[in-house]
Amino acid sequence: MNTRQVERIIDSINTSDGAGVKLLRSIGQRQHVRLDPFLMLDEFGSFDANDYIAGFPPHPHRGFETVTYMLEGHMLHEDHMGNKGHLRSGDVQWMSAAHGIIHSEMPQQQSGRMHGFQLWINLPAREKMKPASYRDIPSERIPVVALAHGGRVKVIAGCFIESEQRTNGSVQGLATQALYLDVHLTQGQQFAHPIPASHNAFIYLYEGELAVGDATTTSVTAHQAAILGSGEQMAVSAQKDARFLVLAAQPLNEPIVQYGPFVMNTREEIEQAILDYQTGKLVQEKAQAFNE
Ligand code: FE2
Repeated sequence: MNTRQVERIIDSINTSDGAGVKLLRSIGQRQHVRLDPFLMLDEFGSFDANDYIAGFPPHPHRGFETVTYMLEGHMLHEDHMGNKGHLRSGDVQWMSAAHGIIHSEMPQQQSGRMHGFQLWINLPAREKMKPASYRDIPSERIPVVALAHGGRVKVIAGCFIESEQRTNGSVQGLATQALYLDVHLTQGQQFAHPIPASHNAFIYLYEGELAVGDATTTSVTAHQAAILGSGEQMAVSAQKDARFLVLAAQPLNEPIVQYGPFVMNTREEIEQAILDYQTGKLVQEKAQAFNE
């Protein structure tokens, strides 16, 4: 199996979103810094309530999915259709905004650490105007696999394969066949995983240091995204204790027109989204909720 080498390193930039939540943005920091179908990856993480307390008051989305993964903290999600959900340490919310959502994401803590990620994954044209839906996945429902050579993997989406053993993640059946793993290794441990050759893939390291690749390796440090080149597997070794996300998915190869929280295929569809938002037609009557 050909091992994927690092094609490009993206350093996170400091930014803020919502009502002033401090973020580190890697993928999506500019519109051409994307990896089809991944549109954006934000890491939020602070012990200082001033950095997160204002949260994300009501705002719209259309045309893609948002995946929120809380490592630590407590957030309340509410939308204009009356859906409500708590996200606590280790929980994941996989939201398909599709036709439209207007929602808020507000911290439910006054102090302590808030740490996690929000990933935006594009939807294919045929799914952009489907009804919105949610998967709220509590931490205890997300499989965690202890690796044979040390370390552990949390399998959020897709299928984790070690030797002949397959572990299905909490989210399956996506148009983009996304793989979303959270891997923890201690210094010196190695990790490799197959990735379909047709997928785009990257690693986001949020703690520690990694050597990525096999014969030639590239050193990756915390808060960097490493975009991987072609191959059938990814391989890393931990130069220090390391925590990282492995993200891979089938590219859509469709035109992208983005206007803030609306991601469509054409300018006309964006204009329609803005008009629908202004005239109260962005949101349909009820989102499908999958409480897993
Ligand atoms: Fe949002």
